[in-house]
Amino acid sequence: MPTRKSPEQIERMREAGRIVAECHELMRDMARPGVRTRDIDREVERLIRRRGGEPAFLGYRGYPASICASVNDEVVHGIPNRRRLEEGDILSVDVGVNLGGWYGDAANTLPIGSVSAEAQALIEAAYEALRRGIEAARAGGRLSDIGRAVQSYAEGRGYGVVRQYVGHGIGRAMHEDPQVPNFVSPELLRNDLVLEPGLVLAIEPMLNQGTHETRVRRNGWTVVTRDGKLSAHVEHTVAITEQGPRILTLP
Ligand code: MF3
Ligand code: CO
Repeated sequence: MPTRKSPEQIERMREAGRIVAECHELMRDMARPGVRTRDIDREVERLIRRRGGEPAFLGYRGYPASICASVNDEVVHGIPNRRRLEEGDILSVDVGVNLGGWYGDAANTLPIGSVSAEAQALIEAAYEALRRGIEAARAGGRLSDIGRAVQSYAEGRGYGVVRQYVGHGIGRAMHEDPQVPNFVSPELLRNDLVLEPGLVLAIEPMLNQGTHETRVRRNGWTVVTRDGKLSAHVEHTVAITEQGPRILTLP
């Protein structure tokens, strides 16, 4: 059952989201050729704790880090490691914060140095798909409006929209009802939720250069594209209000 948050509760989620945004500023500064994703992870964990929060991912179902760092054909859930980022890579970074029992969750995809025109176009399409998904998160609309907005834009540009992983409600837990698919399906339309003020959703499109299909590496976590082509992932935590969508994970 999706839960609706009061304005006071949304303010607490906003404080968690502010820390998430600050982590993303730090990650954007650090994401350079020669840097190890595990160094980024360490600095982000320190920042979250300095702000009085807890890294939401660390220990979640046994996940071993505070961020997910997914490079190139890695879609999501890349585990930070000792490998150095290289010029031309694209890096998706995802981080969640628990502040006083309330969660925020956001992701960005960052170019490392200068990247190919194709990589840059994929990243820009992911942000535009997210923007359109957020725009569709309006009271009186339907949950499927979000997925439809993302999917029609992304597929219209020839990108694959990942289906295996979806967005989610968020609040006192990182993952709450409802699931927020980035595509429309008969299943979604069968019990299509009416969006109401107070719902808070993590909207997180994953766009692939090629096929939407994914597989999981043998470490049990890292999701990669089946065809080895690039993938981009961007995410915001968004509250549905009477005044329209409010992004909680901005600085
Ligand atoms: N942002 C991801 C999500 O929304 C969370 C990563 S899963 C974890 O599902 F295990 F890394 F925490
Ligand atoms: Co999420």
